[in-house]
Amino acid sequence: MFMLGEAFPNFTANTTDGEIDFHQWLGDSWGILFSHPSDFTPVCTTELSRVLKLLPEFQKRNVKVIGLSCDSVASHVEWCKDIKCYAGMNEDDKFPYPIIEDKDRHIAMKLGMVDKDELDSAGMPLTARAVFIIDSNKKFRLSLLYPATTGRNFDEILRVIDSLQLTDKAKVATPVDWKMGDDCMVLPTITEDQIPKIFPQGVTVVPLPSGKSYLRKTSCPKV
Ligand code: BEZ
Repeated sequence: MFMLGEAFPNFTANTTDGEIDFHQWLGDSWGILFSHPSDFTPVCTTELSRVLKLLPEFQKRNVKVIGLSCDSVASHVEWCKDIKCYAGMNEDDKFPYPIIEDKDRHIAMKLGMVDKDELDSAGMPLTARAVFIIDSNKKFRLSLLYPATTGRNFDEILRVIDSLQLTDKAKVATPVDWKMGDDCMVLPTITEDQIPKIFPQGVTVVPLPSGKSYLRKTSCPKV
């Protein structure tokens, strides 16, 4: 299995936009690969439709989006009509992001996305709801893995992309329930004497019973 910080595995795949080499398709962008158990299923339809509506938000963050479901490209193409309709999109508009086919579960097995509790009518395991976030250097940065019966929250996915991109540029970490613009935490590796130069906006040390000055807040850096 691949680990956070390693190069994300490359693969070739058939998609609704033709055959792709995943790394070439990513180019210099960040990417999010999200998988689904099956076409023409209710939760999946709501998720792909939400991504359609959020596409401008992903584009603003230089993130390309690609889905994966076990069924064939022909099935995906038919399903896209339902997804567009559910999203309130014009049926004649091109579906704006690709969906990978994975009939033999080749990619799902390679990326550890199979859910052994969910089987198709032939008894083959389906893909879980996996999310992989890959940065512009093809590095694997974050994953989520949900079962078929629990739809994901795509606002959370945008939130973690904001955190990843901010913390790549500024020496901060983002605390619980953080949203872009909220106060951030000074990295524990930053020493007291480095603070004035790195955080001219100032730092607040939160007093704690331990007496240790490790919980240091600063306003969200402008990057
Ligand atoms: C769904 O997308 O609604 C779904 C798919 C597989 C199992 C359960 C729910």
